[in-house]
Amino acid sequence: MWRIYSFSVLILIVVFSTYCSTVNETMFVNATKSKLKILGIFGHLGKSHFDMFKPLLEELARRGHEVTVVSYFPRTNDAKAKEPLSNYKDISLVDPKVGVDVGVNVVDLKQMSQSSFVHIQRLNTLRLMADVTCNTSLRHPAITELIRSDEKFDVILTENFNTDCFLGFIHRFKVPYLAFSSHQIMPWTNNDMGNEDNPSYIPIHFFGFIRPMNFLDRITNTVGLFLYKAAYEYWFRSVDQVIANEVFGSDLPKLQKLAQQSSALLVSTHSSLFGSRPQLPNVVEIGGIHIPSKINSLPKDLTEFLDSAHDGALFFSLGSRIKSTTMPKEKLDAILKVFSSIPRKVIWKWETDELPHKMDNVMTRKWLPQFDVMNHPNIKCYLGHGGLLGISEAVYVGLPMILMPIFGDQFHNSAAVRNRGAGIVLSFYDLNEQSLRHALDACFNDTSYRENAQRLSKAYRDRPASPLETAVWWTEYVARGNGNPYSRSEGADLPWYQYHLIDVALVLIIVFTVFIYILFRLIKLLLSLLSAVKGKAGSQAEKKRKKKD
Ligand SMILES: *[C@@H]1O[C@H](CO)[C@@H](O)[C@H](O)[C@H]1NC(C)=O
Repeated sequence: MWRIYSFSVLILIVVFSTYCSTVNETMFVNATKSKLKILGIFGHLGKSHFDMFKPLLEELARRGHEVTVVSYFPRTNDAKAKEPLSNYKDISLVDPKVGVDVGVNVVDLKQMSQSSFVHIQRLNTLRLMADVTCNTSLRHPAITELIRSDEKFDVILTENFNTDCFLGFIHRFKVPYLAFSSHQIMPWTNNDMGNEDNPSYIPIHFFGFIRPMNFLDRITNTVGLFLYKAAYEYWFRSVDQVIANEVFGSDLPKLQKLAQQSSALLVSTHSSLFGSRPQLPNVVEIGGIHIPSKINSLPKDLTEFLDSAHDGALFFSLGSRIKSTTMPKEKLDAILKVFSSIPRKVIWKWETDELPHKMDNVMTRKWLPQFDVMNHPNIKCYLGHGGLLGISEAVYVGLPMILMPIFGDQFHNSAAVRNRGAGIVLSFYDLNEQSLRHALDACFNDTSYRENAQRLSKAYRDRPASPLETAVWWTEYVARGNGNPYSRSEGADLPWYQYHLIDVALVLIIVFTVFIYILFRLIKLLLSLLSAVKGKAGSQAEKKRKKKD
């Protein structure tokens, strides 16, 4: 009896579970075709930009997708030896005959000036870099070959920065694409996507304003936003269109139209640091994507040096583009003097072997594993230039900072750190013994900077998914294409006067003015009628009184 009972229960379980598995499952996620063909196009030759793209491209290859990458940064033999990634194919833009300056240790500090033409200079630099991208990179034989090839792709991933001339590939391969900005969103990109950029509270990243902006800052911010956008629209785009037409053919649509087709934009920022602001659902913050998931142990000499830094150590690096050895002599002297007088150790990225004079508490290296160094428990302060890679790492680690912005978005990044109370901004042009000592005292001895940095670190790390996972998901999502027809903001397609409600405001002002005018006239009429009636009544009463008399 018991046996029959248990047997029938078993049968029931089996039947029930087969029933369950045959029931139609509804799913929130549509599985991706397991192997995508992904084309990555990165025509800009700044290494700090590509450092942000590389982790995503490699991870996509790791997940089995076939990744073809056009860039100046093919995987090195070292990297290949560590991890072969056979489905990661490089199309290198480096011309072995010409060689190319990929922007490492190129910025000469002696040539940096603080002139009032800095914005014109900056636009000009952006334009010169765009010329290299369009004129040199885009005319590379490897590009011509790719255009003529019969390759097929599922999705294109490309850089968004100072030119759209590489977007010809979108037209050539006719597939959906997403763009990746290795810095703050460029003003013109907000326009193309229809992403909110109200200058009343969103500072553009060319100025380095402290939030919230005061009245004067808001004027500059508003005018600046307009001028930068106008310069891009009427100067950059028209030059790039000519080159792109030569390369991709005269039937190439307007570059602006292609830029507007972007299905998503990945951005290397995070609101915890740069402030909360509206982003469209397809504008996705993935700041910190380059931060490795594990900390490597340091070389032996570094470990020994830092382990013995019982009173804490300073990490000093001006990043990959700036050549520290071009530091003006009086500034270098001031730095050395201050370093020799503080009871702390200093670890310094310095490109020549020796400092002018040797100091026991200072160690220099031509290259340093930045993130691993920052994670050493005895590193108590980071002296940097405000590059996004470095500050993202320091924010992640929770390290207080002293930032000396030199060019580009570094002023904006540094201001953001200062805004969060996690660091001090030091003007490079005012760098002297006194200002440096003051900043170091604050960074090491004022605990509020450390507390703020640690608080910020928690906010920066706490996310629904890691930036890398998020970026992978968005790449696959755009390739699946389910959301692409609906992702575009309707605001993006309105003419400017409709977007800013100028037409509505004008009509409302007119209607209101007319209404007030009519009301005014009516009241006036009424008053005059009233006084006329009163006047009549008054004179009649007068007559009556006179009669009585
Ligand atoms: C911090 O305070 C200590 C002790 O008062 C002092 O010796 C040191 O010079 C100060 N500044 C730095 C950067 O350590």
